[in-house]
Amino acid sequence: MKSFTVRACGPIKATLVIPGDKSMSHRSAMFASLAEGRSTITGFLEAEDCLSTVNAMRSLGARIEHTGKGTFVIEGTGGHLSQPSGDVDCGNSGTTMRLLSGIVASQPIKARMTGDASLSKRPMGRVIKPLTEMGARFTAEGGDGKPPLAVEGGSLKPLSYEMPVASAQVKSAVLLAGLSAEGETSVVEPAACRDHTERMLQEFGVTLELGTPDANGRRRIALKGPQKLRARDFAVPGDISSAAFWLVAGSAKEGSEITMHGVGLNPTRDGIISVLRRMGADITATPSDQNTAEPSGTIVVKGGKLTGTVIAGAEIPNVIDELPVLAVAGALASGTTIIRDAKELRVKETDRIAAVAGNLRAMGAKVTETEDGMVIDGGYPLHGATLQCFHDHRIAMSGAIAGLFAEGETVIEHVECVDTSYPTFGTTLDSVLCS
Ligand code: S3P
Repeated sequence: MKSFTVRACGPIKATLVIPGDKSMSHRSAMFASLAEGRSTITGFLEAEDCLSTVNAMRSLGARIEHTGKGTFVIEGTGGHLSQPSGDVDCGNSGTTMRLLSGIVASQPIKARMTGDASLSKRPMGRVIKPLTEMGARFTAEGGDGKPPLAVEGGSLKPLSYEMPVASAQVKSAVLLAGLSAEGETSVVEPAACRDHTERMLQEFGVTLELGTPDANGRRRIALKGPQKLRARDFAVPGDISSAAFWLVAGSAKEGSEITMHGVGLNPTRDGIISVLRRMGADITATPSDQNTAEPSGTIVVKGGKLTGTVIAGAEIPNVIDELPVLAVAGALASGTTIIRDAKELRVKETDRIAAVAGNLRAMGAKVTETEDGMVIDGGYPLHGATLQCFHDHRIAMSGAIAGLFAEGETVIEHVECVDTSYPTFGTTLDSVLCS
């Protein structure tokens, strides 16, 4: 069993290297595999989740060569995937299974997608429903919309789909299926959620119609099928969801100064910066002037005192993956932090509301769970504890960040899951502890 052992550290003064963005790495491998021609992807996140996508695309006929650290050369299939010879293993990755559902749905092939114990409990009905309406045939072998998923794809009808939840994975699955359906496929998102699929599909030569968001961020996205993707080179920036751990550690520890270069600053992902600034954090984000579909730049965070805030409503999809570590920020802040409208956290790699609330309480924080979030009465001193992460990478890393502020030793057990998104987290953590 791998574990992290953490104790309180002094001010953190460091320049940290943040690994590639997970959402963009998945999409780069998928889109380059669908495209006509050869693409080179750099900055790719070599973590288990994204490697599940690489292997899945290989099993569907793409030729993918690993030519250097974070670099993959992908010979696309021109949109014609082949029948996989065995199960397509999606590992722990919900993004792989949900986006692939949309891709496979439109191909004249059969595929059976499997996942680990955590993925096997996650809801797939949200993609099965619209894709079935388009004409694909799904069997959720786990019952109640749960994996393994057997998909029989074929020629699809276009669909106008009003999404019940603001999910980038559902939006992506429907748009990807719509690429091969004859006519206009559209998705309405109830609140803005990450738009990497829209940005990156356009990079790969697809024409999309992007509606104007209303006051709540509700927006329609449409495309006319059939459309083909064209190969292109793509540089994946650093993952702001991985930088998030150091943003919280750096802003709550007085005297700290942490610099992170080349981090993604997509406005549908950078909500953590606004939330922490609202809590009093000193963060500067300077976009670099490169002209790419996905903005990125340098983030500098300086330590100080935080105060509580409310995180709710349309802001939630923007910080959905950062909420566990923002809960840690809430425990370190003075005053009350309220997280609501975040019921989605209950169906992530684990029930993240229960997991983070339980871990923070074990360390002495005052946290009350609600159905769709939590109330954190901040500022109580934290003490070391032995924490479980329930096979959830973000729970493991959030526990480690809390440990940097606790008296005594904090041990986070079974941290192998961190390899799904941030394999170098442990090394960076050690460098911070020893500095
Ligand atoms: C992701 C979308 C989000 C996010 C996940 C990655 C993506 O999930 O939590 O980590 O890459 O599209 P939902 O679409 O379920 O909100």
